[in-house]
Amino acid sequence: MPATANRLNLFTESVIREMTRVAIEHDAVNLSQGFPDFDPPSALLEAARHAIDGDHHQYAITWGAPRFRKALAQKQSHWMGLPLDPDAHIVVTCGSTEAMMVAMMTVCDPGDRVIIFLPFYENYGADAILSGAQPVYVPLYPPDYQFDRDELRRAFAGGVKALILCNPANPTGKVFSREELQYIADLAREYDAFIITDEVYEHIVYEPHRHTYIASLPDMFGRTISCSSLSKTYSVTGWRLGYVIASPDVIAGARKVHDFLTVGAAAPLQEAAVTALQFPVDYYEQLRADYTRRRDSFLAYLDQAGLRYTKPQGAYYVLVDISEFDFEDDTAFCVWMAKEIGVAAVPGSSFFQEPVRNLIRMHFAKREETLAEAGRRLLRLRERA
Ligand SMILES: Cc1ncc(COP(=O)(O)O)c(C=O)c1O
Repeated sequence: MPATANRLNLFTESVIREMTRVAIEHDAVNLSQGFPDFDPPSALLEAARHAIDGDHHQYAITWGAPRFRKALAQKQSHWMGLPLDPDAHIVVTCGSTEAMMVAMMTVCDPGDRVIIFLPFYENYGADAILSGAQPVYVPLYPPDYQFDRDELRRAFAGGVKALILCNPANPTGKVFSREELQYIADLAREYDAFIITDEVYEHIVYEPHRHTYIASLPDMFGRTISCSSLSKTYSVTGWRLGYVIASPDVIAGARKVHDFLTVGAAAPLQEAAVTALQFPVDYYEQLRADYTRRRDSFLAYLDQAGLRYTKPQGAYYVLVDISEFDFEDDTAFCVWMAKEIGVAAVPGSSFFQEPVRNLIRMHFAKREETLAEAGRRLLRLRERA
């Protein structure tokens, strides 16, 4: 049999999705893969039922159904503070996952260097490999996960095509301040690089932090490719609706890449999602309040279990330090914890390049009773510490 492609040897299967399989096997509370166990907004579900009964069963326009792009342009213009044109600035994709891949393939030639902050959401490594780009890793230093400005400048000075910016960040929960973003933007301008964002947690930010869209900083729209999705904001990770927002030149390229990758996102779901995109501002305030409550109660359970962690500023993950437990590494710890404690987490090493083995990531996009059950089980960790 002929050999499969060499590039497959350069990355492994997703550790996050693997941990979900381990969770199912051991009937553990699954705090590994980041998806909610509560329902999406009922108005959105009603709109989906209605859309299925309607006439939306064939391909939508490849770069997005017109009603969806119009509603998205209106919503994002409001939040990003930019006048977005639904016909010139948007490509609708199958989640932010496809949006990021499209962005990478639109701007990177094989061998181009791309800055990725460490720790990073595991897709970015695979995105770089699949598009032939060369990752240049720049660490974020705990406890606040700040970057060293000189280190970042040196990375840009080495010649890069783009920087990937996950903001708010998975797995650290970092929300980049406006000042940090301005520093990154200035370097991108100085060294003529693109910024590719992943902003799926744009509406999940905790007080006193605020989300700033780097595309909205002066002169940054032209060199920013903003990727995001409806997955987290409307609790519909399985709907696979995302988008790229960028300048018309970049969008012209992104349309081509997207067309040949997937043709388009599900037509009836785009139609249904118009309802969500038109939700009033109150919806986002409630979302923030709900996640703040979930975060605070989950952190209280971690406190009760005597665990050390970095308090997230945004997104819905928390990195927990497991140094005090005597395990050979974080993967062994996570498998043991799923089996013996009944809570599944992701080994922190899957977010790093260097051998960091003392962190695990848990998420709290769960109903209160699920978090309480996880909290109750986590108390048993003390018996092992
Ligand atoms: C940072 C980040 N980006 C992208 C995704 C996936 O987004 P989507 O469902 O829009 O593909 C996730 C999912 O956990 C994520 O954490």
